[in-house]
Amino acid sequence: MPPSTLHGRSLLTIAGLSAAEIAAILDTARAQKADPAGPHGHALAGKTVVLVFEKPSLRTRVSFEVAARRLGATSLYLSPAEVGLGTREPAKDVARVLSRYADAIVCRTFGQDVLDEIDRYASVPVINALSDWEHPCQTLADLLTIREHGGTAGRTLAYVGDGNNVARSLAAGAASEGMHVRLATPPGYVLDDASLALARERAAASGGSVIVTADPLAAVSGRGLGDAGLPPADIVYTDVWTSMGQEAESQRRNAAFAGYQITTDLLAAAPAARLMHDLPAHRGEEISDAAFESAASVIFDQAENRLHAQQAALFHILA
Ligand code: CP
Ligand code: NVA
Repeated sequence: MPPSTLHGRSLLTIAGLSAAEIAAILDTARAQKADPAGPHGHALAGKTVVLVFEKPSLRTRVSFEVAARRLGATSLYLSPAEVGLGTREPAKDVARVLSRYADAIVCRTFGQDVLDEIDRYASVPVINALSDWEHPCQTLADLLTIREHGGTAGRTLAYVGDGNNVARSLAAGAASEGMHVRLATPPGYVLDDASLALARERAAASGGSVIVTADPLAAVSGRGLGDAGLPPADIVYTDVWTSMGQEAESQRRNAAFAGYQITTDLLAAAPAARLMHDLPAHRGEEISDAAFESAASVIFDQAENRLHAQQAALFHILA
């Protein structure tokens, strides 16, 4: 088997992966998930992955550590307080030190600039475990989940909520896979023009499309979109209104996003749709408890797939 085009490379954004590379990671994830005891089990024997996190995490931290072990690697987690990125010492020094100990750095930061600096100074691959700009590993798991629940190409994803890190990665990733992406975001929280342009470029190449609206019901139902309307969404996705680091804005955000909550009424506008959320969920804000707990939810399949998608990404980058 020829080496992956991702071998030795960093994974900083979904934008930095081609559609073919996204598909290759998803194919590997599916194969490894189907055969957990397969030959990949020792692919990273002797390697060490270090996780450096500036923010809390449940899924990303645990799934990366388990994924590394499943590939035969060792992992080590440094919590926000331990590292002091940019306070105890500059990020560029942390990057150069960790590169002497580890084969990859998995890093969760506030600013994407910090992540980019770490990548610039590291001599080993750096993987984005969430920054304020993107959450690429989440998107890989999301696409794996959508592939398992009816497929990606030609199907419709309605994202309702903040035009944030999760939305940015998801729009580019889903468009790369040939999905029709509808983003329902309130004024002031729309995805930036460059990210929309990238998603549209990917969609043009894959047969997908990207629509931006301020109307969650239109995004989910398809009614009122285009001349004759469009079909209802196959996937309804939301994320928190207040991301980590934005807590001081939460009152203003709750007001701006009123009307954007995923409820069972909204889901009824797309009766066959699966419901997704990257977690943690703020019930009563972006999603009602009844919607979260409804039969439409594939949220915990999605959470599980963090493990399989990241295992595949580590495999492509390091094996
Ligand atoms: N979805 C996600 O990244 O969860 P954590 O913040 O718990 O890692
Ligand atoms: N948008 C959220 C995602 C959490 C996984 C945040 O950045 O906090």
